[in-house]
Amino acid sequence: MIKFQPQQVDRILIFDTTLRDGEQSPGATLHIDEKLTIARQLARLGVDIIEAGFPFASPGDFEAVQQVAAEVGTENGPIICGLARATEQDIKTAAKALKPAFHHRIHTFIATSDIHLEYKLKKTRPEVLAIAQDMVALAKSFTDDVEFSPEDAVRSDPEFLYQVLEAAIAAGATTVNIPDTVGYTTPQEFGALIRGIKENVPNIDQAVISVHGHNDLGLAVANFLEAVKNGARQLECTINGIGERAGNAALEELVMAMHVRRQYYNPFLGRPPESEAPLTNIDTKQIHKTSRLVSNLTGMLIQPNKAIVGTNAFAHESGIHQDGVLKHKLTYEIMDAQSIGLGDNQIVLGKHSGRNAFRTRLQELGMELSEQDLNKAFIRFKELADKKKEISDRDLEAIVKDETQSQ
Ligand code: KIV
Ligand code: ZN
Repeated sequence: MIKFQPQQVDRILIFDTTLRDGEQSPGATLHIDEKLTIARQLARLGVDIIEAGFPFASPGDFEAVQQVAAEVGTENGPIICGLARATEQDIKTAAKALKPAFHHRIHTFIATSDIHLEYKLKKTRPEVLAIAQDMVALAKSFTDDVEFSPEDAVRSDPEFLYQVLEAAIAAGATTVNIPDTVGYTTPQEFGALIRGIKENVPNIDQAVISVHGHNDLGLAVANFLEAVKNGARQLECTINGIGERAGNAALEELVMAMHVRRQYYNPFLGRPPESEAPLTNIDTKQIHKTSRLVSNLTGMLIQPNKAIVGTNAFAHESGIHQDGVLKHKLTYEIMDAQSIGLGDNQIVLGKHSGRNAFRTRLQELGMELSEQDLNKAFIRFKELADKKKEISDRDLEAIVKDETQSQ
């Protein structure tokens, strides 16, 4: 069953690849339980598709995808996706891992740039075209929901790219994803590429156009926003922008940019500028929590000035700014901290809080402690709570780090 017919997509689909491309960040390896914890939170966040891993890459990845498919891939849950190179083995393995999910997608890819063809694949263009077509058809024999990516699309000859996309759609791809694999493009150029695809691939209306991009030049989010203006309806991104090298486009930045500036983006989706209908399915109030969880479980720290989720993102240091904000928030704030779930905890931890509330909050932040460590951390928490009225998430993280490092 396909959840999204290309013609029916009237909002921007969010495809989260934190568990696949995000996990490709050096040093960010996640255990299966951690992947499951993140996948559950991604479902609460409201992502449409979770790329849970690359099943053929390792037995651990296979198992993680299978468990995410079984536990998070429910009838009302997100589509669970697995990555597969355009080979029979990869596709069959992905299909097996994804089977427990109610909605599942196989995402297969092959490079189309001459640089990749010559040096990596050692194949000709006609060979790549035939492989793309055959492997999409194979994936289609396992699921109706097939995504195809021409890797390094940005550096591919556009005419060849159009041909490969047309063939992939004819073979059954329902999403065609345009990757900026090396983070090379610029907003104007990427927008023109998406427009060119819309104008030159005859059967493009039978597929959702997706974009995927890396942040080598710090332009991934800007590139995606330009792609949306030109017809992209699925964005592939990661929490905190983690991923290969300089990372992927950051989910929280994309979502909040479209949320805060919806009057600007609405018309590109055929809506009146003042429409209040959400542009994505994301529950923005879950953003802060998801960001902390991913940072804690991957060990990837967030720079303090990181847009949306950095600790300074809503802090006002200068006297002039503080004065302005006290007089009226709009003087220096374009969005409300509460819109990303900051200061929105149901449970406020303080000196009267019990062990259960303490444990629950730690779990929400991705910190699972043994009973012994929990007891020690709880004593530290009570000591701090005697001195401080409210204990923040950062206080809790510091307590747990101190406790676990002092062993
Ligand atoms: O960056 C890339 O090209 C990818 C593909 C597998 C989509 O991650
Ligand atoms: Zn990538």
